[in-house]
Amino acid sequence: MSDTLADNKTTAAPPSDGLAVLESRRSAAETFGIPLAVLAEVTHRCPLQCPYCSNPVELDRGSTELTTDEWKKVLGELAELGVLQIHFSGGEPTARKDIVELVQHATDVGLYSNLITSAVLLTKDKLSALADAGLSHVQISFQGNEPVVADRVAGLKDAHRKKLEVARWTRELELPLTVNAVMHRQNLHQLPNIIQMAVDLDADRLEVANVQYYGWALKNRAALMPTIEQIEETSRIVEEAQARLKGTLAIDYVVPDYYALRPKKCMGGWGRQFFNISPAGKVLPCHAAESITGLEFESVRSNHSIAWIWQNSEAFNRYRGTGWMPEPCKSCEFREVDFGGCRCQAFALTGDAGNTDPACSLSPRHEEIFKQAEREAAAHQDRFIYRNFAGGTLETDDRQDERQDKRNGA
Ligand code: SF4
Ligand code: FES
Repeated sequence: MSDTLADNKTTAAPPSDGLAVLESRRSAAETFGIPLAVLAEVTHRCPLQCPYCSNPVELDRGSTELTTDEWKKVLGELAELGVLQIHFSGGEPTARKDIVELVQHATDVGLYSNLITSAVLLTKDKLSALADAGLSHVQISFQGNEPVVADRVAGLKDAHRKKLEVARWTRELELPLTVNAVMHRQNLHQLPNIIQMAVDLDADRLEVANVQYYGWALKNRAALMPTIEQIEETSRIVEEAQARLKGTLAIDYVVPDYYALRPKKCMGGWGRQFFNISPAGKVLPCHAAESITGLEFESVRSNHSIAWIWQNSEAFNRYRGTGWMPEPCKSCEFREVDFGGCRCQAFALTGDAGNTDPACSLSPRHEEIFKQAEREAAAHQDRFIYRNFAGGTLETDDRQDERQDKRNGA
């Protein structure tokens, strides 16, 4: 999942759909401390095997997933709490047979729903049923703008063609569409064509989402890390497209952490604006929080309400606000701007989630990770470790040969 809402800007323009309504009211979340939007990872099952998946390396098995009734109870509780929007995500949320029933229940309790999907399991009838159930928005992930690169990254044949088909059905059903393009060294050369693809698909929004390096992406960092030259070129392409397509396509873009000077305000700050619920029902401050060892996360199956977990649980309070911060964050003028960056990245790179995110140029580790990124990007180690329940599978030489053959037109 991307941190879309965390990165989106409040706009003064009249809201055109449910998502825009929420964005325009975002400051309410900061005032009242109630999360406006929640990410429901209803399953980790997925037909794709993306090497940068934001799910934990240790995936929740189908047998541990919340039941339909448990999810319905959660949705009701969220609506009572004051949450306005639910993102149905995964894994692949449509791998659940009850996804239409869950969307219908979200509608019944007054939640806007967004489907974050790989699209490959959707039929036109299923999408139509979701629209009838009140689905407000569809976000489809793309791995490239054509099948050779896209299907290889996804680890699934024919995935790209299917995604294009579902994107067209989405607009035929008059549902707002976001194209989510996760970018890295092996597909950044396609960015101009991906932007054009989003225009051709009549998408409302394009997220140019540089890979965030934790979980599966950390395992695959050497195969994904872009070069500094690619990032400079990307920034130029995005800026030009944002100006040219103003009013046609909104484009979100964040510089990848390893090449940034200041870290991103991850999740809008730990425990400030958003939370996630994992397939097995854990309530998490972010999608990667389980990668931080030593933190205990409460479950919706416990005796505590979600409101109690949000307000009182140790995991949410550990890094909330600024009181936990070490130097240089503690006395930094940006401490309430970025809240010290990303806890998961700090843990992944320093072994302590309580350290300053090394993406920050003031972190004592910044120089080291910047150099590491440059080294890895230059090494051309291109083989992926594909995401799966077995802990990952290394891309075979056959797949690499096949890719070369296709490039050569064989
Ligand atoms: Fe943000 Fe901390 Fe860096 Fe200051 S020192 S910019 S608060 S991460
Ligand atoms: Fe940034 Fe977890 S992904 S805090």
